[in-house]
Amino acid sequence: MTTTTTTTAAPKATTAQSLTLTDLVKTYMAKGRESFAAVKGINLDIAPGELIALLGPSGCGKTTTLRMIAGLETVTSGSIKIGDREISQLPASKRGIGVGFESYALYPPMSVRENLLYGLKARKVKGAEEMVSSISTRLEMDDLMDLRPAGLSSGQKQRVALARALVRNPPVLLLDEPLSHLDASARQRVRRELKVLQREFGYTTIVVTHDQVEALSLADRLAVMDAGVVQQFGTPDEVFDDPANLFVAQFVGEPQINVVHGVARSDGGRVRVEIGSDAGSLETTVTGVADGTEVAVGIRPQDATMSAAHGTGLHTTVAYFEHLLEFGLATTTVAGVEEGIVVQTPAQERYEPEQKVVIGAPPERVYLFDTDTGERLR
Ligand SMILES: Nc1ncnc2c1ncn2[C@@H]1O[C@H](COP(=O)(O)OP(=O)(O)OP(=O)(O)O)[C@@H](O)[C@H]1O
Ligand SMILES: [Mg+2]
Repeated sequence: MTTTTTTTAAPKATTAQSLTLTDLVKTYMAKGRESFAAVKGINLDIAPGELIALLGPSGCGKTTTLRMIAGLETVTSGSIKIGDREISQLPASKRGIGVGFESYALYPPMSVRENLLYGLKARKVKGAEEMVSSISTRLEMDDLMDLRPAGLSSGQKQRVALARALVRNPPVLLLDEPLSHLDASARQRVRRELKVLQREFGYTTIVVTHDQVEALSLADRLAVMDAGVVQQFGTPDEVFDDPANLFVAQFVGEPQINVVHGVARSDGGRVRVEIGSDAGSLETTVTGVADGTEVAVGIRPQDATMSAAHGTGLHTTVAYFEHLLEFGLATTTVAGVEEGIVVQTPAQERYEPEQKVVIGAPPERVYLFDTDTGERLR
């Protein structure tokens, strides 16, 4: 590993540091109003140089978490460490964290170049100009360098904010929706470049995003949050293939997982779940359910298969069929089930409305969840 030196022209990698959040809590207190727990005890162990994506619905506490790490918000309780250093009580400027928040102001009278150089010059960083021009080229913003912030579009401002966080070469980088205002193609290119820069420089990084594709393409691991709590922290494959609960199963995956009511049937052998009224059943590898238990059954559209209307499985009728070039999506109706079951079908197959089909799924991909708590049954 190299240490941060600033004597040569080429930007140097920082010494990668771990970031550890332990029982981190934020409760907002407002005069005359009830206190509000925005973050309810988060634990995350992020390895040096790792990039994690924080995913979750609006209001679940993502920005609050980043602001606490950055020192822009006080911590109600818990600990934040970079390496072995406790930083939760340090002022923001002493934490050595690069922040790319949308609301992070640029200085209006200065050009983009001056904005990017500003912090570096104040700290007398050698090679600052080279660092700035290298990053601006890689983020495709050379043509913006002499403009003033007021003249920039929101996507351009976003790239400047990202560049400003990167040029500081911080051991820890926090990015809150860094690419949300870019158009689709710029977004893809800047995303790729961000990942390459992150790898090269070894910033330990948290990216908040609403975009699953972005999360999956950038992240080593995903932290899926809901209501101030991390519901699951794992690699994209772990989160997709082995969801901890119904919330995670429904939040991650496109098209969304099918969830229907079912009743477990166990006669000592493999467990089957009956779905609908006399529509049939699916086998599952779940063992921890008693005969007759009511469950929520989760089947990903990608895991479900359709075949001609005989044999064991779930007997359904195609309601409509969409052909989407790389694959098809069949929405089927099951007698006695309110929700349709969506099946992703191979590109070459075609289905017609009213067609009778039988749905199957590999038993290990038929997930069961507790109907009250949403916890996964295994
Ligand atoms: N200063 C504040 N005072 C009181 N409540 C706040 C304050 N800041 C945020 N909250 C509340 O805390 C909760 C979490 O907010 P936060 O901004 O962290 O959500 P988020 O996950 O970033 O959402 P989004 O995806 O919409 O950006 C929200 O319910 C919000 O209303
Ligand atoms: Mg937010």
